Amino acid sequence: MAKIIGGLTTSHIPAIANAMANGLEETPYWKPFFDGYPPVRDWLNEKKPDVIILFYNDHGLEFFIDKKPTFAIGVADEYHNADEGWGIPTIPPVTGESELSWHIANSLVEDGFDMTICQEMKVDHGLTVPLNLMWPGYNYGHVKVIPVCINCEQHPMPQPKRTFALGQAIGRAVASFDEDLNVVVFGTGGMSHQLDGERAGIINRKFDIECLDKLVTDPEDLTKYSNLDLVEIAGAQGVELNMLLAMRGTLIGQVKELHRNYHAPISNTGSGLMLLEHTMPEK
Ligand SMILES: [Fe+2]
Repeated sequence: MAKIIGGLTTSHIPAIANAMANGLEETPYWKPFFDGYPPVRDWLNEKKPDVIILFYNDHGLEFFIDKKPTFAIGVADEYHNADEGWGIPTIPPVTGESELSWHIANSLVEDGFDMTICQEMKVDHGLTVPLNLMWPGYNYGHVKVIPVCINCEQHPMPQPKRTFALGQAIGRAVASFDEDLNVVVFGTGGMSHQLDGERAGIINRKFDIECLDKLVTDPEDLTKYSNLDLVEIAGAQGVELNMLLAMRGTLIGQVKELHRNYHAPISNTGSGLMLLEHTMPEK
């Protein structure tokens, strides 16, 4: 049986890739952010997961505003990045896991989630930055990745209640896959932030920390918010909380918090790194 052994939250902002490409990790601005990562890297290197399911939002590389799937899943054997205009060096491809991807896709549609199923898919910084943070130097080729995109850019977006339910459905799908695979789920994105408009730069540290607490102890409580609530409380891009909630939804058994590092601001966002160990429910 495939097992989800853990879940984590991390920022995916493109400025991280630039900082790593330019060796800025020890500078005063970046150090408090990057100092959070070694314990998570150590845990991943010890546990050696076979598969990462990675929730992110595509920022316009594969899905522009003319075509925006609410939920999309990749089922390819390999994924490529492309120029996003950030000056980031060309990076190696990401390895896929088509068999488990198809199993999850079938299971989700059966379960009432009408996914966009992508046999080809370019992946942007939302996916590659978290992988590079965990395996610096873009050394992630050994781990198989299943990309799951959630629309967090253009209204109407799926509500927190729905993204949490999507995560739960993925958790059930993984538990019903016969092959022995260890899976870790990444929920990526900024916490409170707003990139433009009158409130650009807004950060709500208190709310971010409450969200991290609730993600451990009572994630369903966070589904009481609508996306408009999140915009008001946490800024227009605070809706990226949906991807953290989707991750937490997949953890259908017991969780234990192993590590946390909250830092703000980093590139105008609240950044929440958290590692949760997960024990699957008894069958
Ligand atoms: Fe993002």
